[in-house]
Amino acid sequence: MKFEQYTNFASEQWRLTMGKSEHFSLEKCTDGEKTVVWDKMAATYDLAMGSDTRRIETAIERLERLGAFGPDTVALDIGSGTGAYTLALAEKCKVVYALDSSRGMQKVMAEKAEKLGIRNIIPICADWKSIQESELPCRFDIVLSSLNTGINDADSLLKMNQASKGFCCYVTAHGTARSSSRGDFQRIVFGRELMTAGGNDIIHPFNIIYGLGYRPELTYAPCEWTKEEEPEEAVEAVCREFGRYGPIDESLKSKLREYILSRLNEKGMFSQSQKSVVGIMIWDTRDLGG
Ligand SMILES: C[S@@+](CC[C@H](N)C(=O)[O-])C[C@H]1O[C@@H](n2cnc3c(N)ncnc32)[C@H](O)[C@@H]1O
Repeated sequence: MKFEQYTNFASEQWRLTMGKSEHFSLEKCTDGEKTVVWDKMAATYDLAMGSDTRRIETAIERLERLGAFGPDTVALDIGSGTGAYTLALAEKCKVVYALDSSRGMQKVMAEKAEKLGIRNIIPICADWKSIQESELPCRFDIVLSSLNTGINDADSLLKMNQASKGFCCYVTAHGTARSSSRGDFQRIVFGRELMTAGGNDIIHPFNIIYGLGYRPELTYAPCEWTKEEEPEEAVEAVCREFGRYGPIDESLKSKLREYILSRLNEKGMFSQSQKSVVGIMIWDTRDLGG
């Protein structure tokens, strides 16, 4: 059964909430500049979002229960980052293609795969938004995308659906993350906290896929991290993150440094934490309701 009105409504809602979410809409950098930010964040990504594996275990366990893995399974991980899902998929699949626009992220993933003796990962350095279907090596048994800011609208989501001849797994935020310091940093940089407005919430892609007549399964997993950094590393990291919204001049950098130095722990380190929940949506692209 198709509910095209849900798909159209949800596509529009997703577009509108992305526009209302200042977290996304105030970004001033081009896609190329964003890739440079990911390159620079690669070395420390696994200290934060990459450190909680529950979202990965949940998705793999559910794909397994749905019978998604076999000896010839070929998977595609879009926005593979440092390999959170790619490495886990590689243990269950014949081959995993790991697509990411950031070479820095891919380098970290390759080093981790090498250490683990994993040899069935093929990197593709490309932008999901612009890659042509004909440039992909095949259609895949599993297409997965997790926390990938490159799949942030109906077109890029449906492209993922199109690339699959089996299962799709899409992971993104459920609700808003609670962070120990982001609000304070925003007050320093913008003079107020930014509106998040549920821009990339799982509700939008769920309604789009449901409306097309698929029967997506939805589950949730917590994602929590705490990281400690040397004060100057923390200053550089926050400047990189907020550099997406415009130049961070010396005066602003000093204010951020002052804040960080005023909150060092007993070891002289700056500690931050974040608690969030992700939605994990899995659907079988062969199932159109019936
Ligand atoms: C938050 S990380 C997620 C990494 C990993 N999937 C995970 O769940 O931990 C987002 C990744 O998506 C990549 N990315 C963002 N936009 C992209 C695009 N348009 N095409 C390909 N990769 C993209 C970034 O380079 C980064 O490695």
